[in-house]
Amino acid sequence: MAKITYIEPSGERKTIDVPPGSTVMDGAVDNNVDGIIASCGGSCSCSTCHVYVDEEWIGRTGRAHLAEQDTLEFAIDVRENSRLSCQIEVTDELDGLVVQVVDEQA
Ligand code: FES
Repeated sequence: MAKITYIEPSGERKTIDVPPGSTVMDGAVDNNVDGIIASCGGSCSCSTCHVYVDEEWIGRTGRAHLAEQDTLEFAIDVRENSRLSCQIEVTDELDGLVVQVVDEQA
């Protein structure tokens, strides 16, 4: 399990044990994290699972891949550390990851 801290749009922090092999989006949806809509179910086509990865963690999550960047064009307030949480696979290496859920999904 990897403990992932989600900072909701309200500022509330939720730390959740997420199993390896699932995605950061799965951990949010399964635990009712506010602000993650994930309307395409994780197929990288909706951008409603947009998060900002804490800069300290970007080296481990990596930045958005090309197809993800295309989908992020539909998102609001995209930043250098923007990721679609459905495209971040959870591994034990991500234990401690912190992501900020964006204030507004597209
Ligand atoms: Fe649709 Fe991530 S859930 S892009």
